[in-house]
Amino acid sequence: MINRETIDNIITTARIEEVIGDYVNLRRRGVNLLGLCPFHNEKTPSFTVSPAKGIYKCFGCGKAGNSVNFIMEHEHYSYPEALKYLARKYNIEVEEQEQTPEQLLEQNEKESLYNLNLFAQQYFTKTLLESSEGKSVGLSYFRERGIREDLVHKFQLGYSPEKRDALSENATQNGYKKEYLVKTGLSIEKEDRIYDRFHSRVIFPIHSASGRVIGFGGRILGSDKTKAKYVNSPESEIYNKSKTLYGIYFAKSAIISKDSCLLVEGYTDVISMHQAGIENVVASSGTSLTHDQVRMIQRYTPNITILYDGDPAGIKASFRGIDMIVEEGMNVKIVLFPDGEDPDSFARKHHPSEVEKFVQENAVNFILFKTRLLLDETKNDPIRKAALIREIVNTISLIPDRISRSLYVKECSALMAISEQILLSELNKILRAKIKKGMPAEEHETDVIPEEQAAAEPQLEIDLDSPEYQEKEIIRLLLLYGQEIIMIKLKSTDEEEVPVQVADYVLNDLLNDEMGFENEIFRAMFEEYSREAETDSIPDRNRFLSHNDPEISKTAVNLIFTPYELSQNWLKNNIMITSEETRLHMHVMLALHAFKAKKLDKMMSETQKQLAAATIQEEQTELMKKLQGLKKQSIRINKDGLGRIITR
Ligand code: CTP
Ligand code: MN
Repeated sequence: MINRETIDNIITTARIEEVIGDYVNLRRRGVNLLGLCPFHNEKTPSFTVSPAKGIYKCFGCGKAGNSVNFIMEHEHYSYPEALKYLARKYNIEVEEQEQTPEQLLEQNEKESLYNLNLFAQQYFTKTLLESSEGKSVGLSYFRERGIREDLVHKFQLGYSPEKRDALSENATQNGYKKEYLVKTGLSIEKEDRIYDRFHSRVIFPIHSASGRVIGFGGRILGSDKTKAKYVNSPESEIYNKSKTLYGIYFAKSAIISKDSCLLVEGYTDVISMHQAGIENVVASSGTSLTHDQVRMIQRYTPNITILYDGDPAGIKASFRGIDMIVEEGMNVKIVLFPDGEDPDSFARKHHPSEVEKFVQENAVNFILFKTRLLLDETKNDPIRKAALIREIVNTISLIPDRISRSLYVKECSALMAISEQILLSELNKILRAKIKKGMPAEEHETDVIPEEQAAAEPQLEIDLDSPEYQEKEIIRLLLLYGQEIIMIKLKSTDEEEVPVQVADYVLNDLLNDEMGFENEIFRAMFEEYSREAETDSIPDRNRFLSHNDPEISKTAVNLIFTPYELSQNWLKNNIMITSEETRLHMHVMLALHAFKAKKLDKMMSETQKQLAAATIQEEQTELMKKLQGLKKQSIRINKDGLGRIITR
């Protein structure tokens, strides 16, 4: 038998996206992930995984469940077999035989720590709300700070009295062991006696994501500069600071529903934001942000907005945090509060609607934020400006997604009035250095390139006027994003959006309009795509990178190495696009549209020339007809091509 605690441990540790990700290629779709269902045969994905809820569901065949169910179903395992599989994956020890008394003790220890923390939280809350000291000192402190009583209840705030062993004594009398009081950090041992760590402080309990009390923060009541403003629980078996975010339990559902998480510094910031009706907020509690904390947020949303108070030291320190979030592939925005204000003080001085508005209007993406700040500092100093450019490009290089990277290069170039080419070559330098260093290649996608080809200088120049430009863009889309999923509105229903692989969509669209390629190599590649797609699945780009035809593999390498160029139309229209999927959708539509428009232009001008040269009347009528047909086609393509882009 596997004991309950181990089972709980396995289920909470196993991340469904990782478990399923071992078998299914999953792509992010908003808060969910989408892939091809492993339980039935499908061409367009309807298998949905919710990391936040820890479940999967296929909208095609109806199969659904959690990580354990998935492994049972997929591997035909029994329940305990599936649990053991997951335990192995996550290095969790599974004890099957009868447990020894020592083992039982250890297992029970965690439970004991949780229980004691719960007892202490209730003691602190009761003391705050019911004792005369608690009311006159603690509760009046919260009142003075403008924290409403419903928030005191919601966050289970408390008060630890002046008496140096009030909690320690009370807990001992209630049968809690001294050993656990010390282990949770509630008490400090001194010469065989124990004293309260938090005495004379108001208490902020720290909850796990599932709502259990795992630690405490205690604040002094005045502003005595000789004492630490906050005292916090030390690390314990149940409290790991770097894996904890204050407020996550109370923020979880708002983060999911708003698809965004606000990050603040302290306990009081979280509480004041809730009081202003903004609930998708967590705090890193003074320490610098960790990868584990970022990943914790990522389970619920890819969007983080950091709220900082405006002092320069804090801002500088924030840069590291920004880089880390960027590196995790998340979207980061920053809101700077007026100097001297933090979210807490700001929220107390303004109406809740103003707070929400302030955050919305002042959230800028990290590039803009960094650029503005550093530009201020480096005015008229070319050497420092060069360093600044490198600094910013370095941050951009951390972004795992290629399309996002190129977007930020554009933005940075406009902001700093530096040509994109310079930024791109700087960026490529960094990326190449990373590849050489053998950093995880991931989206850089160069790990498969044979050495002598990789050594070839990647082409950075893009000649927009070259007649092959549009053809090249189509092939590049196929290579880079062919297997990605975009949502397409069905023409017939006009309502429903269905997931389609980019390559499927592009191939269908071009084959329907009977648009061919002029460039031989691009044509060969396109034909290979359509052949494969018909009989099998979308070919992987590796197939082209290591193609028998050396011309094809060379072309593939160059295309993949070239940073993605944004469409000119897009920039002209000045459309702001945020979600990655939406951006990809735009790219596909614009590339297809540009390709067809260019083809039609060429065909029309050729027909016109023929018409001018034609002498026989029948021939003239034929050519007129053809020209009119082409014009109609051109109008249609403009209408539905661009229509589809704009309506997104
Ligand atoms: N912090 C800490 N120990 C300290 C100071 C700060 O643990 N000595 C942590 C706390 O989690 C605190 C956060 O860092 O909430 C932010 O610090 P600060 O801005 O100084 O505190 P505030 O939350 O603003 O607290 P208050 O408004 O009560 O001064
Ligand atoms: Mn404060």
